[in-house]
Amino acid sequence: SIVLPALIHYFCPFPTSSFAFTDVPQLDCDIKAGKIINPEFIAKCPPGCQDIKYRVYGTDIYASFSSVCGAAIHSGTIDNSGGKILVQKVAGHSGYRGSYSNGIRSLSLPRWRESFIVSGTVGRHNSDTLISWKRKIKSKKEQKYPTQFFGVSLLFSVSDCKVDLSFLIDGSWSIGKRRFLIQKQFLSDVAQTLDVGIAGPLMGIIQYGDEPSTEFNLKTHTNSKDVKSAIEKISQKGGLSNVGKALSFVTKNFFLDTSGNRGGAPNVAIVLVDGWPTDKVEEASRMARESGINIFFVTIEGRVPVYFCICISSQAVCRTNGFYSINVPSWFNLHKVVQTLVKRVCDTDRLACSKTCLNSADIGFVIDGSSSVGTGHFRTVLQFVANISKEFEISDTDTRIGAVQYTYEQRLEFGFDKHSTKQDVLNAVKRINYWSGGTSTGAAINYAFEQLFSKSKPNKRKIMILITDGRSYDDVRGPAMTAHQNGVIAYSVGIAWAAQDELEAIATDPDKEHSVFVDEFDHLYRFVPRIIQNICTEFNSQPRN
Ligand SMILES: *[C@@H]1O[C@H](CO)[C@@H](O)[C@H](O)[C@H]1NC(C)=O
Repeated sequence: SIVLPALIHYFCPFPTSSFAFTDVPQLDCDIKAGKIINPEFIAKCPPGCQDIKYRVYGTDIYASFSSVCGAAIHSGTIDNSGGKILVQKVAGHSGYRGSYSNGIRSLSLPRWRESFIVSGTVGRHNSDTLISWKRKIKSKKEQKYPTQFFGVSLLFSVSDCKVDLSFLIDGSWSIGKRRFLIQKQFLSDVAQTLDVGIAGPLMGIIQYGDEPSTEFNLKTHTNSKDVKSAIEKISQKGGLSNVGKALSFVTKNFFLDTSGNRGGAPNVAIVLVDGWPTDKVEEASRMARESGINIFFVTIEGRVPVYFCICISSQAVCRTNGFYSINVPSWFNLHKVVQTLVKRVCDTDRLACSKTCLNSADIGFVIDGSSSVGTGHFRTVLQFVANISKEFEISDTDTRIGAVQYTYEQRLEFGFDKHSTKQDVLNAVKRINYWSGGTSTGAAINYAFEQLFSKSKPNKRKIMILITDGRSYDDVRGPAMTAHQNGVIAYSVGIAWAAQDELEAIATDPDKEHSVFVDEFDHLYRFVPRIIQNICTEFNSQPRN
């Protein structure tokens, strides 16, 4: 495993009589506990970590996949102005429970391999804790780490590399036999450096020529030695270099649970490209990215540096610093990029293309605009829609929002492709005009299915959130069932006179997790965190790319 010395420098004289730290390392809000090797450490959180983008998983005991400082706020140890914390690593477990606490909504997570707890540094910990902590660090230091990297600085790990990786290699005639061998050597070096294993990275290989073919998939070999001997046996297919076709193939066929895809691990595709590919790559890359695959291009002997823009929503990442793109001037230099590539692939915090519950859905609101709602309460409903939308990462490649209003009739307020920024969506929600009329909820579900969700992309989760305050004039069961059977995950929000049996029929099973009832409009705001949490719990419990 590779241990990187901290980028954060920290010197602490360890006073034995008091616990007066004056200088502790400062963490960024997005640093996850899993990235830090120390079993126990004191650190300082900056102000401003109370933000949905710093994800936290669990309650009291947090999965190490969580932001350290986010968890510190959630636990009540510090507030959004930051402060010093003591972090202790504990064993991983299953069933991390999300909750809303101190202004942070933590998420549920089925399981994780390590957890941590956060506590304050003032008053609660006496010098005994400090001394035992010091002793632990000391014995560790003697076993493992070079002194200059030790002291009490934080040790950051890139060995915590759990990714599902597909390598796309060039088998076309154009690269020739010799280069094909260099390519195999490169794969072998990467497999060795990665240290393939079921608790860490897994890798499979696709060879492309005219057509792509899978040499082996994620579950075929589970250690570097086996992967390497399988690489030795690969023979060149020949043909053209149809990279785009191969990427489409990977998007559709590679990351399947039956092929060993683990769900909890980010999906990564590394594409080796010799000069110019034969077919179009952009569109295939975009589709792959939208399916949650992080694509790295290693371009060898490209005549001009090629920057495939593969990660549209993270333009800074893909356009500016080329995180996802490595250019190698000649095949004979390929071995020099092994370390760089492995480091980037294993920097799982920066794998911006991974799917989360917040960036991978098409969410369609179906809003009851009947007369019983009234103008004032309709505003409250719109606020509710805006407050839910606000929690998601919105762009045309992340989560998209659409809305339908209904009475006896229906109208499309805006479709999924209409607004591509959060601000535009929020403005559009505000502009929805109250209609007033009857209540045909069944017809509205049909309409939403046909006019809204038919335009949803195949790789997005289709989520319908229907909000109503009364019993429907027509049947809701048939339309709801059609929507469910066609992949729409339906949530029902009933207010005041809404009928419980209808809310349950509209909601996807289990009803309890997809349906809420609110006695009055003024209490609607309380259910925003619950709905987000249910959406995330549902997402976390699904196998995914
Ligand atoms: C929406 O959020 C605002 C600001 O946090 C809050 O004041 C309001 O009560 C919320 N309303 C609803 C219906 O969620």
